[in-house]
Amino acid sequence: MKVPFSRVYEAATFYTAFSLKPRGKNIIKICMGTACHVRGASALEDKFERTLGIKPGETTTDKKFSLETVNCVGACALGPLVVINTEYHGQMTMNKVDKLINKIKEEGAQR
Ligand code: FES
Repeated sequence: MKVPFSRVYEAATFYTAFSLKPRGKNIIKICMGTACHVRGASALEDKFERTLGIKPGETTTDKKFSLETVNCVGACALGPLVVINTEYHGQMTMNKVDKLINKIKEEGAQR
């Protein structure tokens, strides 16, 4: 393509849609924007970290889940908000975290 490596690297590291590390099959994005933050996003982040055993930016060893934090995704009224793959999960609670993770694991086991 005759594009300098630096230009490719620049694009790959600028856009969050790209990653230099392999990501998990399921991408979990916790919104840490202001509206979600004041409604408990930090506690949810801790819960996801403990449940999955990874920190934001990491992927589980079985490559099933990657955890990320994002700033406002534009659905503040639904906060605290978590986006799993392309699905928005509003008014997220600690109890919903375990249910969602288990549901995804069960769905993955059935495929
Ligand atoms: S702050 Fe979370 S969607 Fe806006």
